[in-house]
Amino acid sequence: MRHNVIIDCDPGHDDVFAIGLAASFCNILGITSVVGNSIIENTTTNALIAANLFDLQDVPVVMGAKYPLSGNIDHVTQAHGESGLDGPIRRTPYGRLDDRDAVDFLVETCRTNEGAWIVAIGPLTNIALAIRADRTIVNKISGISLMGGSLTHGNVTAAAEYNIWFDPQAASEVFGSGARIKMCGLDLTDQLTVNGKFAADLMEISTDTSRFCSELIDYYQGYAAKMAGVTGPESLLVGAPLHDPCAVLAITHPELFTSERMDVIIETTGIHTLGMTLADTRPWENHSESLIEVMKSINAKEALQIIVNSFKVAK
Ligand code: BDR
Ligand code: CA
Repeated sequence: MRHNVIIDCDPGHDDVFAIGLAASFCNILGITSVVGNSIIENTTTNALIAANLFDLQDVPVVMGAKYPLSGNIDHVTQAHGESGLDGPIRRTPYGRLDDRDAVDFLVETCRTNEGAWIVAIGPLTNIALAIRADRTIVNKISGISLMGGSLTHGNVTAAAEYNIWFDPQAASEVFGSGARIKMCGLDLTDQLTVNGKFAADLMEISTDTSRFCSELIDYYQGYAAKMAGVTGPESLLVGAPLHDPCAVLAITHPELFTSERMDVIIETTGIHTLGMTLADTRPWENHSESLIEVMKSINAKEALQIIVNSFKVAK
């Protein structure tokens, strides 16, 4: 079954792979951009580039929020570069940006496509604003599958993962909205890593799209190797976490995951813990009714195979 999905994203190298997977396994109703990995002008252009790469010219691409609700503006240019998509030669996307307002688009699309999933792989600003605009959409959608947070460590701070830290207020509103949520946190997404072999596999498939994506991985994995302090040929063995595709796979291939229902709240004021996803893991509390399903493990080998195969099938 091909699920109807709306992808809310801030491309971002790993966002592009999530869009590609969704193009293979879902019916994409729209792509909304949000500020995050780069300024909104760049993440929007990058969303259009991704739409071109995966033959999504009929899918509306809509520009979303320029600023977060609660104001942590840091574009992590180390990981994704100034453009948000550094590595391959920069392309000028073809196809027009849809000129609708992203919040109106999200509300309208959720209203008219009951049972759709929102795949949220950037800061949650647009989603929070859409829920503010019409709370009833949380009951119209199947849920929100998101990349964000962590049960353990953060990446931007010791406590917080980037997408949640960038807009903790928005995340708090979304987690408390009454929507069904699948949460792919860092402790999960760190299990899905790619290295030089993955880039080589994509290059070998030898389509325009696979070559471009191989070059994206060269850049992204190169940064992970640099962070790990590994140089020379050994650096190609360093794994870089491909976070965002997990949020698509959680819907399309749930059998790859283990998960647990937990109550999760967002730290919106902490001095050291701003943007932390605080999960209640007390074993004596009953969380079986929680709307939040925290994904805990992924069969990474299978998942990578599915991603590589999707490039071959699209050939
Ligand atoms: C998340 O932050 C972004 O840099 C990635 O695209 C991913 O969505 C990982 O913390
Ligand atoms: Ca992202």
